[in-house]
Amino acid sequence: MMRKIPRRIGKGSRIGEYTVMSPIGGGRYGVCFLARDDEGRKVVLKRFRGYLSAKKRCRTAEMRREEAVSLSLLSHPGIPEILGVINDRNGYFFVLEYMEGKTLEDWLFRERKEFSPAEIYDIGSQMFGIMGHMHARGFVHGDISISNVIYDGEKVSLIDFGLAGRARDGSRTGSRAHGVSRDLDYARTADVLIYLLYSGYRGKGRRTWCEELPLTEDQKAFLEELIDPAGMEGKPGGCDGAQYAEKVAAGFAKAWGRE
Ligand SMILES: Nc1ncnc2c1ncn2[C@@H]1O[C@H](COP(=O)(O)OP(=O)(O)O)[C@@H](O)[C@H]1O
Ligand SMILES: [Mg+2]
Repeated sequence: MMRKIPRRIGKGSRIGEYTVMSPIGGGRYGVCFLARDDEGRKVVLKRFRGYLSAKKRCRTAEMRREEAVSLSLLSHPGIPEILGVINDRNGYFFVLEYMEGKTLEDWLFRERKEFSPAEIYDIGSQMFGIMGHMHARGFVHGDISISNVIYDGEKVSLIDFGLAGRARDGSRTGSRAHGVSRDLDYARTADVLIYLLYSGYRGKGRRTWCEELPLTEDQKAFLEELIDPAGMEGKPGGCDGAQYAEKVAAGFAKAWGRE
């Protein structure tokens, strides 16, 4: 079978009305490039892998569609805007608003940053704010992780809506988002917070986070409830997304003594 050879994209390549500056990250479904338009505004071009089996291609197309729909219906300073789609000889791209900063993964493992309690609290509350916006509109992210959260020292952004979809309890049924739920977004956010809490930890790392990290009983209980909300009143799936996010944010403030 004849296969088209993908063109090499590098510094200076023109894609649509944009000029590529550098690659900024590769992942499961493609590669991202930092680029700028003729006025110098930075954007991210997220390229999707083109050469897949028919079955995979079908699934990728659906995921791409869900990602574009989610991004276009959400509007929050911590969520990149989708500025357009380019489909040309270089491939299929989303044009995304560039979110300033580094991923939490880079902060932790490249920069070896130690997050202070104040920073951790600030990052967590911004994440719960973004979650409220998303969940109130019926969307779940489905892939919250340290590599999908960007931080510039102040502002938090959530990126990579590649697994996003409608909440399981949402009005639309039969979508691929069956199986992703708001609970999962909260549990994964607790994971992110635990990563940040470990950044200042000097111990041997032989016990569980609950035993090791110097947390108060309230803080442990808060994180444990996010990880395993079974039996909790007003579970994330069971009530309004914005209301629930506010409740979580209030619990977080209380446990971290920031009321
Ligand atoms: N809007 C954006 N602003 C800044 N950086 C981004 C943006 N989107 C993606 N990136 C960078 O590109 C990387 C890969 O993009 P991502 O959307 O997470 O795709 P993947 O599905 O491959 O993980 C990210 O980890 C981040 O470093
Ligand atoms: Mg990612």
